Amino acid sequence: MSVLADPKRYHVTTFGCQMNEHDSERMKGMLETLGYDEAQAPEDADLLLFNTCSIRESADSRFVAHLGHAKRMKKERPGVLVGVGGCWAQSVKDEVFERFPFVDVAFGPGQINKLAEFLTAESITAQGYFEFEGFPAHLPTKRNRDFQAWVQIAVGCNLKCSYCIVPSTRGRESSRPYEQLVDEVTRLAADGVKEITLLGQNVNAYGRDLRTSDPLPDALLPFHEAAKRPTGSGDKGRPRTFAELLTAVADIDGIERVRYTSPHPKDIREDVVAVHAALPEVCDHIHLPLQAGSSRILKKMRRTYDKQRFLDRVAMIREQCPDISLSTDIIVGFPGETEEEFQETLEVVDAVRFDSAFTFVFSPRRGTEAAEMTDEFVPHPVKVERMERLVALVQKHARERTQRFVGRTVDVLIEGESRTDSDRLRGRTSHNKVVNFTGFGVPGQTVPVEITGATSQTLSGEMSLLTLSA
Ligand code: 5AD
Ligand code: SF4
Repeated sequence: MSVLADPKRYHVTTFGCQMNEHDSERMKGMLETLGYDEAQAPEDADLLLFNTCSIRESADSRFVAHLGHAKRMKKERPGVLVGVGGCWAQSVKDEVFERFPFVDVAFGPGQINKLAEFLTAESITAQGYFEFEGFPAHLPTKRNRDFQAWVQIAVGCNLKCSYCIVPSTRGRESSRPYEQLVDEVTRLAADGVKEITLLGQNVNAYGRDLRTSDPLPDALLPFHEAAKRPTGSGDKGRPRTFAELLTAVADIDGIERVRYTSPHPKDIREDVVAVHAALPEVCDHIHLPLQAGSSRILKKMRRTYDKQRFLDRVAMIREQCPDISLSTDIIVGFPGETEEEFQETLEVVDAVRFDSAFTFVFSPRRGTEAAEMTDEFVPHPVKVERMERLVALVQKHARERTQRFVGRTVDVLIEGESRTDSDRLRGRTSHNKVVNFTGFGVPGQTVPVEITGATSQTLSGEMSLLTLSA
């Protein structure tokens, strides 16, 4: 008998990155087309889904605790189905069922269509789906916010960062067809979406595996000499570029903001930065993961850039876009990292003055090259002490950097009520800063706000009525 005999309720718990959040939205969309309703709490659900992450050990252990809870619920209500998707599931594959026999279905990242196949099967037996199959067919999405949407532009990753589990969980890189993406964003805009975030493991590698005979937009020609050449017959044409995708989606009526994550420092090129400078829709923020400041460590990480190259890229960005916000990811205590090499990370951080940074203690992931470097592992207390120094420096810069907004009037896209004061509103600036402010408006509306205060993380202000009535 199909599980869909009567209306069922699902609950999805999401761990990890935006890619997973997007996958979860697609799972929800797919489940609703199958007749499921969303349960407010796991206790009320017939189907408990976990979309997992494996990036660091802490992500694994958090998830395992949640699974324990699911097991207890299943004991109380044996009809409950438990599904585990995403990167952790992919990284442990069939072991899922050995270690957690109460799991009914397990599937890799993006394989939401397989979940549908499982749920609509005539009989339910434990199943695992881990083959990469490229892009799933168009799936309905249940968006968290009506006016914001993720758009996955590529799957997989061809890089081999020695600490990273992603290439083994998400497979080879493959770009989604350009026309399909432009169509998708056009549909989203027609549906009321104002802000899109383009997602990929290395977004600026987008399009290298695609070919077209379309001419490049004029504004991008100076950056691509080769693209000027006419494509002769039999010629498959030029590759697509990330900069032209940004240009095309920013041009779609109704799209007010375009973000993307994450680019790789080795591939952030002048054309993309020129698009930031020229197009107001392309947000004033770039997330540029540094990972480490020492060239020797960067090499061991297989990042394919060194300290100087990273600093040069930042200089190029700041020259074209002096006010842009820069954020980053940094790993401390990579195997073999000496005190002097850690100091180089601090030096780069001090030189760049990031607006914000996500900082991580190195955590060995199974199957990665760095996990094998056991005799060079940095002792935990050393990692923790380095982390404290790094966080102090990052915080100092963040505090200093947000001050530049005080006294300015900035456009804020309202996201909802302030989390600390329900009389105030909360929104985000193009620079990706959260603003709590006094004013009025509805989620999805963009209003001018005069910034009156700033902490390292958030801005505060008052809606500017003068500008509004002008
Ligand atoms: N240990 C610690 N941090 C890691 N990251 C990725 N893999 C690891 C690991 N094994 C961090 C990187 C990456 C971010 C998403 O997570 O900084 O950019
Ligand atoms: Fe995202 Fe990486 Fe975690 Fe997978 S392992 S969910 S790609 S952060």
